[in-house]
Amino acid sequence: ERHKNHFALNSKAYDKYPAHSALEEERRELDSVHIREMFRNDPERAEKMTIEDEGLLFDFSKNRITDKTVELFGRLATESGLADAREEYFSGGKINKTENRAVLHTALRNFRIDQQILDGEDIQHDIREVRSRMKTFSDSVIGGEWKGATGKAIKSIINIGIGGSDLGPVMVVESLAAQRNHLEIHFVSNVDGWHLHSVLGKCDPETTLVVVVSKTFTTQETMANAMNAKTWLTNALGEVTANHFVAVSTNIQRATDFGIEEKNIFGFWDWVGGRYSLWSSVGLTISLACGYGNFEELLKGAESSDVHFAESSWEKNIPFLMAALGLWYNNYWDYSSHAILPYDQRLHRFPAYLQQADMESNGKSVDRNGERVSHNTGPIIWGECGTNGQHAFYQLIHQGTRIIPCDFILFAKPDHAFLDQHKKLVANCIAQSRALVMGRSREEIPKNSNAAFDVRPFKVFEGNRPSNTMIFDRLTPYNLGKLISYYEQKIFVQGFFWNVFSYDQWGVELGKILATNILERSENESHPSPLDSSSEQLLKFVSVKS
Ligand code: F6P
Repeated sequence: ERHKNHFALNSKAYDKYPAHSALEEERRELDSVHIREMFRNDPERAEKMTIEDEGLLFDFSKNRITDKTVELFGRLATESGLADAREEYFSGGKINKTENRAVLHTALRNFRIDQQILDGEDIQHDIREVRSRMKTFSDSVIGGEWKGATGKAIKSIINIGIGGSDLGPVMVVESLAAQRNHLEIHFVSNVDGWHLHSVLGKCDPETTLVVVVSKTFTTQETMANAMNAKTWLTNALGEVTANHFVAVSTNIQRATDFGIEEKNIFGFWDWVGGRYSLWSSVGLTISLACGYGNFEELLKGAESSDVHFAESSWEKNIPFLMAALGLWYNNYWDYSSHAILPYDQRLHRFPAYLQQADMESNGKSVDRNGERVSHNTGPIIWGECGTNGQHAFYQLIHQGTRIIPCDFILFAKPDHAFLDQHKKLVANCIAQSRALVMGRSREEIPKNSNAAFDVRPFKVFEGNRPSNTMIFDRLTPYNLGKLISYYEQKIFVQGFFWNVFSYDQWGVELGKILATNILERSENESHPSPLDSSSEQLLKFVSVKS
């Protein structure tokens, strides 16, 4: 029943929120207004539309909004009861209703409380216990006390997992390149055997530790990679997996059945969603790669953003504004995609990480009442590091027919000595958001009097293309934690407004079932074919050619 009261653009309930009608009116008014004019008319616009949070500056002034838009979104949040929903989320309400689970990844980085009871258990006690084991284990591997079966220290780590059991750890390990220690870190996720093959080719079984990460310990890709990695190891060293395999899972039974000793299994809990799990023992590879202290710094940064989200007024609340702007463009302006553009090479997996976090959460078309939504939900998230993207797809962002709101992410201080290059990077980042918003009119383009063909129309940039810019002082574990948490909370807020359940992922199930059917069919031709003629033909072609 509670869910029926939530704001939903397609329900009758939405008419009762005056802020929504006012936002529709605001959108109509802004239709003919250029952001360039708004900057001209208000010299304080940038200052007013910027929020600082510790080492971060969040500038959202280059958007199709006025002060009133921000105020109206704050009113919409109040009218629709977002604060109550936020309270329910932070306090362990079972908001993942289709799986009857709490959503408590925020508890994994809550150092402010000693105790937190969920279903009669003190989860903070359990969290501390796992974290302490992660620390001891990481310290011993990094320090060389943890030995392989032949007495040698570990040099290479292979993280085997997929989805949330891969994307979070790989994104963080890449992003924290400046904090890395001597261990070589590899990630294997794809069921394509080439992925495993290419990584094993770089590792020596005697000095390799495999971290099998799977919440369920049933995922086809992960199990296949883990089994073949185990065979690779036992072929080389004999039946001595104990010092070379550890697991991260909520399914202790299946991990022990796989042959991993219980003392080498790092648990987590069903109230941690896969795509929100890097804060749990799923972050073990982060702790191995960068040291436990840096892992904890990451958690503390995320905690500080959680506090910001929980305590700031809506008008000064960074993740709320990120969500509101997304809602603004997605539902009021009909812009259907959102580009993530980090100006730091170390964040090259950040767009991919966010694709799972956002699209697996809010890519839904059934609302919380089980009815088909008639509004758009999650946007298409995509992106690439600047400046590489500039030489690829930015043409479309600047002059294409579709408007693509962008997030520019930048760090003021580099961790390398090529300061001339960093200055160029910064200049490029700021140039892009400026070009997008200000554009260039025909009058501003010098006429080439000799040209037989007037090329000026092709050089016009209409501008008025929105973006946010986030600048952190430096790419530290703490700031990275902050950044990730902002996006997680943005996803929460948008799921609330779209009235979808953000923490399940039924959309990935059918493909898994069908893959199993097709596998059975490919292994046994007498198996009754469940396939349509196209799929049957594709399978036949592969079997003939392989
Ligand atoms: O792709 C679906 C999914 O369930 C993701 O949500 C999850 O992160 C991934 O598979 C991996 O699942 P597991 O950790 O159970 O192997």
